[in-house]
Amino acid sequence: MCPPAVVPHGPFRADTWVRPYNGVRLRRTWLASQHRLKPTPQQHRRPVTTEDYAQHFTPVEAVDLAYGLIDTLYGPLRSPRLIDPACGEGAFLFRALERGLTSPQSTFGIERDPELACRVFGRANGPRAAAADALTGLAAPLAPGAFDLVVANPPYGTGAAGLRGMGERDARRLMQTYALWALPRPSKARIAMERLRSYPAEVLFLELCVSLARPGGHVAVILPEGIAANARYAAVREWLLAHVQLDAVIGLPKSTFRRTGAAAKTVLLLLTRRPPPKGHRVRLGEVGEWDAPAMYPLRPQSDPRLLDRLDPAYWHPSFDALLDACRLPLVPLGDFITDLTYGPIVTGRGQGTGDGDANRPRAVSHVGARFIAPDHVGAPFMAPETRNAVAIVNQGQVGFCGVDLTEAPCVPPDSPWVSRRSMLRPGDVVLPRSGEGSLGKHRVAVFLADQPAGVGSFVDLIRLQGLNPFYLAAFLKSRLGRSQVSRVANGVGVPNISFDEIRNLLVPQLPTEEQAAIEQRYRRTVLPLHTEAVRRHAALRARGTEPRSDGILRDLRETAEGQWTRAIAEVDAAVVGDP
Ligand SMILES: C[S@@+](CC[C@H](N)C(=O)[O-])C[C@H]1O[C@@H](n2cnc3c(N)ncnc32)[C@H](O)[C@@H]1O
Repeated sequence: MCPPAVVPHGPFRADTWVRPYNGVRLRRTWLASQHRLKPTPQQHRRPVTTEDYAQHFTPVEAVDLAYGLIDTLYGPLRSPRLIDPACGEGAFLFRALERGLTSPQSTFGIERDPELACRVFGRANGPRAAAADALTGLAAPLAPGAFDLVVANPPYGTGAAGLRGMGERDARRLMQTYALWALPRPSKARIAMERLRSYPAEVLFLELCVSLARPGGHVAVILPEGIAANARYAAVREWLLAHVQLDAVIGLPKSTFRRTGAAAKTVLLLLTRRPPPKGHRVRLGEVGEWDAPAMYPLRPQSDPRLLDRLDPAYWHPSFDALLDACRLPLVPLGDFITDLTYGPIVTGRGQGTGDGDANRPRAVSHVGARFIAPDHVGAPFMAPETRNAVAIVNQGQVGFCGVDLTEAPCVPPDSPWVSRRSMLRPGDVVLPRSGEGSLGKHRVAVFLADQPAGVGSFVDLIRLQGLNPFYLAAFLKSRLGRSQVSRVANGVGVPNISFDEIRNLLVPQLPTEEQAAIEQRYRRTVLPLHTEAVRRHAALRARGTEPRSDGILRDLRETAEGQWTRAIAEVDAAVVGDP
């Protein structure tokens, strides 16, 4: 006979939790501490990998940080009923008991992997755990508001946590139960189901956590930083900011989950399940030292900028301090932009570079100074000296001191990689719009070549009126420029910058003649060295010599960089002095 299930009092009922699992109906949901439950042979057979279930367990430092903040913000809580709906090895649950935060009778966990659940939670006096799928088995309306405290580091990823292979019945149930997956706008039924199946599991768990908390109860949940920073999750942030009292967002170090094989940047969110009171302010901070995170100035929850960015790194006070230190009036770059575009995005077979980037003409091989397209590419590459050949400026062509077309793929003017709007004119600014090694390294240059060229799909063309392009290039490499680009580009996975973010960059209004002086200085001291370096690069390629091993080329580039760096330092001095 089945031993009686240990069920938390309140609206939970064992029979609403028990579900067929991998075709096996679990005989008992709760693994009460006094009853050891062994996995059935069928359960042993299921092929589970760490990746399937996203089993990246939380290190004790992060768990302690969460409980420390819970104590500070909400404590003392009196033996709260606590649950982790994706509890893994029970990092949060066991630590809650060790810290005397609550009692085993009030500590609950759900874990989808029955083998793990059975192995970890069969001990006496431990937390109570259920081997179940928290998303479908615990569909939120069945168990609303039963807990004082919900803690979680849920599985991350699109389609993680069993969503991808989910049957139609379960998927329909989730569609009715959860709201966030359908934001910002619901789609037609068939598309909706696909959307749900490939939806990031952590967002469904976030919603589950909130609904598990009683009104006025608290949630501490670790989420990927992208949820806080990425434009794609703006609807999730809007929902959070409108529906709950957001108490703290703390950035965790990238190394937090290193031991479990993950390098994701994450944030710890603390919230209270109640509408945000008027005037409520959110604590933002980042962990340097685990026991003393650096806390930044409080932000009103009603600040609309939190909709755009909720990642604490964005709110580091040094960014605003540098803007405040600017000695000149600041003007949005958008006021000077007449054209802002990137190159055509070309899809289809044979269009990729082979390095994971499907939107760039494939790298070409060189014979002498000619560019030959590899046979299998099927794209019409041509020799650059051919009349009308258009060079494509990709990230690799944008150097610190200028554009170098030596290795640029060349295509005919009617190629899909060329459009009228993407063709460059001398004086256009080229800015790689993503990537650690290009945008992240503040590679931006003024295009000057007299050869026909267009931007590739990963490079932005910025055409200006009323602002000297050489001044803009120098400014974007100066401290204030770099700091603004880093602020918006970081925290969103691969660094990238959108058109809106480019337009919103603030540029100090340096007098026109001083802007012109920067251009003259570039033309006099940097451009001759850069041009010489480009010539040598082409000659080495023509000879079949590897340019990277050429000392003269390296010296030329370094000297040019030195000259440009000195000019940029003067822009720094004029703009922010030495704060
Ligand atoms: C990232 S781990 C974190 C575990 C634990 N909360 C911690 O902090 O160490 C997520 C856990 O959720 C479990 N899991 C995945 N999908 C689940 C689901 N649908 N229901 C319940 N647990 C699930 C995984 O097996 C894994 O153990």
